[in-house]
Amino acid sequence: MANSDIEFTVEDGESVLDAALRLGLPVPYGCKTGGCGACRARVVEGTVEHVHDPRALSNSERDAGLALLCQAEARSDLTVDVQLLARDGRHKVRSVPARVDVKERISHDVVHLVLQLPKARPFDYLPGQYVDILLRDGRRRSFSIASPPSADNRIEMQLRHVPGGSFVSYVINEMPDCAVLRIQGPLGGFYLRDAPERPAIFIAGGTGFAPIRAMLMDALARGETRPLHLYWGARASHDLYEHELAEQWGRDYPNLHYTPVLSEPADGDGWTGATGFVHEQVVRDFPDCSGCDVYLSGPPVLVESAKRDLADCGLRPERTFYDAFEYAFVTWPEDERPGAAR
Ligand code: FES
Repeated sequence: MANSDIEFTVEDGESVLDAALRLGLPVPYGCKTGGCGACRARVVEGTVEHVHDPRALSNSERDAGLALLCQAEARSDLTVDVQLLARDGRHKVRSVPARVDVKERISHDVVHLVLQLPKARPFDYLPGQYVDILLRDGRRRSFSIASPPSADNRIEMQLRHVPGGSFVSYVINEMPDCAVLRIQGPLGGFYLRDAPERPAIFIAGGTGFAPIRAMLMDALARGETRPLHLYWGARASHDLYEHELAEQWGRDYPNLHYTPVLSEPADGDGWTGATGFVHEQVVRDFPDCSGCDVYLSGPPVLVESAKRDLADCGLRPERTFYDAFEYAFVTWPEDERPGAAR
């Protein structure tokens, strides 16, 4: 691995990610199917072949030498530049029970959950990562953690309700108080990079705000001083379900700049702020963002559009961070109700 003395062998037919995990290396990953981009890394030397379609990798990312380690097999000796998670095992993926302590509807379509995890062993993660809720049949649903690690081992989530029998419908309408779910995590490679000299731009769409909320809460509490630009896009003002919190950050922290952007302000909104698609506002404000890091969280169409349009503003692929998953849109068939979760 680049900038380290770590060496390992990748077997024939084995992905680079699986080889690293087999040796216990804390490489970030998520879906393992080429869809989320969490295992992206730069191949500094050597050749890899993606054995299946690495759909979370754009052509410009490929041209920049990035690969998806979960899909990449070695075709020569390799040097790979990966930012490892903690090497003391703190961020190791594991399954734990999670009791629902708080279930609160905080907008017309968002429910806020607080889950109590077992106190015996801290559930450590990097703000921005996500967990999977496990189902009895082996299927899973992915949700970002909306809060930084806490001493009492509680995590928060913000789930958006979509019509059509979604998991969130179950959570809102049927899930009993104090339900116990089973979760697995932490997962993903979406966390704040240590780059104090580079302004960070956060672009959230809808409940894509959740992992960015966790990152910012942690960064602000740590006294982060780099410029932090938060752009939060939604349809109408009632979709900005924690607008006051973000505004308060802007008042309390001089390096935090908050720009809400509405794509379809309602007649009664009296909206005088930015309008359009959220990433287009970033393009207007940062016509040259070559010196910035950009963190994207939201529907795949937002992530793809922002990557494409900000690349034209000089954003480097290796300074663009996201986990592209589609949890907000999945449905939850009748037979998968998590009364059934292990
Ligand atoms: S873990 Fe490789 S793309 Fe998701």
